[in-house]
Amino acid sequence: MSVLNAIPFMRPIHLRSPRQQRRHTLPASEFRCLSPEDAVSVFEIEREAFISVSGECPLHLDEVRQFLTLCPELSLGWFEEGRLVAFIIGSMWNQDRLSQDALTFHKPEGSSVHIHVLAVHRTFRQQGKGSILLWRYLQYLRCLPVARRAVLMCEDFLVPFYSKCGFKAVGPCDITVGPMTFIEMQYPVQGHAFMRRNSGC
Ligand SMILES: CC(C)(COP(=O)(O)OP(=O)(O)OC[C@H]1O[C@@H](n2cnc3c(N)ncnc32)[C@H](O)[C@@H]1OP(=O)(O)O)[C@@H](O)C(=O)NCCC(=O)NCCS
Repeated sequence: MSVLNAIPFMRPIHLRSPRQQRRHTLPASEFRCLSPEDAVSVFEIEREAFISVSGECPLHLDEVRQFLTLCPELSLGWFEEGRLVAFIIGSMWNQDRLSQDALTFHKPEGSSVHIHVLAVHRTFRQQGKGSILLWRYLQYLRCLPVARRAVLMCEDFLVPFYSKCGFKAVGPCDITVGPMTFIEMQYPVQGHAFMRRNSGC
């Protein structure tokens, strides 16, 4: 018997299939907080999702970098084989309702997580990724002691999407962007304190 057969766990790497080798380099699916180095990939998705449609986008590149520097823990990215396919960027907000300042400021003393943007890469939409990423993000917020609720503004046509994800409409948002108006929606995070205690956070 050869030494290699006798000690299978010491088989040299070239005996693994190419599929196994790939799995060791880039994970098929990975969720992680974003960093300022991810800003360009984020903005590429935003450019296609928003700028090409309306000429506007929730966060410009410098704002993406700013939030990913100030509060990277409030972001979440979904990577497929190392490529960003969907993301959420949030920051803290310190008032009951969103106002214009919420678009540019991170208020670390606040207790509301303002979700600035959720976007899925064009080729990955309508596959459940937006809902799954948002669900994971909301689960993750339960582990942050400062987060009492998540809040966002969206156009009318997305109210059903966020409602399905558990958000409730608060009313028309004070913020307007050019001719665009928005509905403010919120999701209670604090109400899940029991689960937080029992979730191993
Ligand atoms: C909105 C968005 C995040 C949803 O993610 P997704 O992965 O495509 O959505 P899911 O597959 O999880 O869910 C599909 C549901 O989303 C809703 N939805 C998605 N895009 C929609 C749109 N343009 N208009 C209306 N509803 C839409 C629908 O309710 C749909 O359900 P249905 O298939 O039963 O009609 C994604 O389409 C996207 O990135 N759009 C461009 C950017 C954007 O508008 N972001 C939200 C504002 S911050």
